[in-house]
Amino acid sequence: MHRPLTKDRGRDAAGGVGGAGPGGISIRRNRLYVADCVEFMARMDADTVDLTVTSPPYDNLRHYNGYSFDFEAIARGLLRVTKPGGVVVWVVGDKIDGGRRTLSSFRQGLFLQEIGFRMHDVMIYRKKNTPFMRSNAYTSAFEFMFVLSKGSPKTFNPLKEPTVRSGYEMLPHNKGPDAVNNKVLRELKKEKTRTNIWAYAVGMGGTTSDKVAFGHPAVFPEKLAGDHIRSWTEPGDLVFDPMCGSGTTPKMARLAGRHYIGVDISPEYVAIAEQRLEAYG
Ligand SMILES: C[S@@+](CC[C@H](N)C(=O)[O-])C[C@H]1O[C@@H](n2cnc3c(N)ncnc32)[C@H](O)[C@@H]1O
Repeated sequence: MHRPLTKDRGRDAAGGVGGAGPGGISIRRNRLYVADCVEFMARMDADTVDLTVTSPPYDNLRHYNGYSFDFEAIARGLLRVTKPGGVVVWVVGDKIDGGRRTLSSFRQGLFLQEIGFRMHDVMIYRKKNTPFMRSNAYTSAFEFMFVLSKGSPKTFNPLKEPTVRSGYEMLPHNKGPDAVNNKVLRELKKEKTRTNIWAYAVGMGGTTSDKVAFGHPAVFPEKLAGDHIRSWTEPGDLVFDPMCGSGTTPKMARLAGRHYIGVDISPEYVAIAEQRLEAYG
């Protein structure tokens, strides 16, 4: 069952992005809200969000009385509130159920595409350390990061990483139709655009150093959120997380000089998120 839109956990509000609905509150930026995100998004203005970085509760079928209903409503809500050119990063893994991967991630990706999102990229979030083992399969060490866009992404700031080789080398130059391979001494590039596989350490000090965050059972690495925020938005843009848990996405948006809105159905998790953000002023 959906809870009503109950309470906003106000911080420094800076501009509305939705009117007061029957629930009676207006939606403002730079706030955390305790709400069912489907109801919440229905009250947001359309085409307002530059970037969503979010992660659903994986395969929580029993709690939601049927997987597809809630997920589909969330997907459609996200499509409505995302600006043309805006991006949704959907971080998702599969549960192992009775020895099999559920493949809910695949079904979700296909559905998001069917309703009108563009599957701009399928990225991998690789966990540098993971204690999780299966006796008859390799240790699962990644999740998907579906990068979905409403049309073509309006912003892309490619993140760079150092190249493995540096210094000077003889490099091919002016290779003509005679296939003569002329070489000249040239300086190798010092950095290159990252690949679409991003690796993060997980756990205390990796996921985050905010102890309070671990009151939530499924925090994603704050660097993951920060890297997507820098990739797909500019300062002053609006970053959204409809299922923000411990507040990772709002925290990183705030630190990156972006506006944020964070929503979670659980008052306990929103209280954690609030505490976490307070530590960063
Ligand atoms: C995987 S966790 C997100 C964790 C978050 N990325 C973080 O770093 O802390 C999923 C969250 O979805 C929230 N949630 C589940 N159903 C929801 C709904 N209908 N509306 C809003 N939040 C919901 C849960 O309370 C949970 O905190």
